[in-house]
Amino acid sequence: MSLSAEYCSDKTGDRGGGGGVALAHQRRLIRGLLVWATLLTLGLATSITLQFIQRESPAPSKRQIQENVTQPPQPPQPKEIPIMEFSPFWGDTEMVENLTWKTVREDFFKVQQQLLMNQKDGQYFLYLQVTLASHEKANHTITVETHNRKILNGRINGSKLSTLFMAKGISLAKGDNLTVTCNPKAKIRTRHTETYLGVIKINST
Ligand SMILES: *[C@@H]1O[C@H](CO)[C@@H](O)[C@H](O)[C@H]1NC(C)=O
Ligand SMILES: *[C@@H]1O[C@H](CO)[C@@H](O)[C@H](O)[C@H]1NC(C)=O
Ligand SMILES: *[C@@H]1O[C@H](CO)[C@@H](O)[C@H](O)[C@H]1NC(C)=O
Ligand SMILES: *[C@@H]1O[C@H](CO)[C@@H](O)[C@H](O)[C@H]1NC(C)=O
Ligand SMILES: *[C@@H]1O[C@H](CO)[C@@H](O)[C@H](O)[C@H]1NC(C)=O
Repeated sequence: MSLSAEYCSDKTGDRGGGGGVALAHQRRLIRGLLVWATLLTLGLATSITLQFIQRESPAPSKRQIQENVTQPPQPPQPKEIPIMEFSPFWGDTEMVENLTWKTVREDFFKVQQQLLMNQKDGQYFLYLQVTLASHEKANHTITVETHNRKILNGRINGSKLSTLFMAKGISLAKGDNLTVTCNPKAKIRTRHTETYLGVIKINST
């Protein structure tokens, strides 16, 4: 820049037969133009740099989108809550003491006669409803237990109430068996709306 400025001023100086005022005016003009050109160059350089910076930041996202074209970002799927429900597996006219169950699918509990064998360590929410088939004079105790501990215990006053509902959150280890008993034995309704046992898996370890 400075070189060309000198060259210009030299040239004008050589030519300068004319008035000093015009020369000074020309020099000022040239200097002004040079300053203007410098500013333009700086502006251009700045805009180019900015473009590079801007191009570099959106570029990865564009690439990500292209890579993800086959798998567009999915909204988080609601986690399916594992739930198992069991239906009575005895006759309506039977007097039952050890309640037996049937289930459609074997997921985390396996039915073995009156035993529900747990398949996975974890925390479970267990719920149970029992409906007696008839008003009976005796009180009935419904118990849910594993081989070494009682989990739920409820009583039915046969002459007054014939339905019992119980629920509890429990921790079970793999291989734990659940049994449901009715003492003394009684006729228990088998409709799935009246008597059922359900287990919801809350968490597994
Ligand atoms: C899709 O994009 C995500 C980030 O948004 C990235 O973790 C993932 O690896 C990309 N998928 C592919 C197949 O590149
Ligand atoms: C219920 O189970 C207990 C323990 O397994 C057993 O002693 C009892 O005889 C059973 N009762 C009936 C009616 O099967
Ligand atoms: C059932 O409840 C009623 C009223 O509370 C009571 O009078 C009756 O004795 C109870 N049944 C039995 C078998 O105790
Ligand atoms: C049944 O339960 C009631 C209330 O707990 C009690 O008063 C009654 O004695 C019980 N009846 C029998 C037969 O155990
Ligand atoms: C549960 O029942 C099964 C089958 O009867 C048996 O093999 C297993 O040992 C039982 N588990 C416990 C903890 O008793």
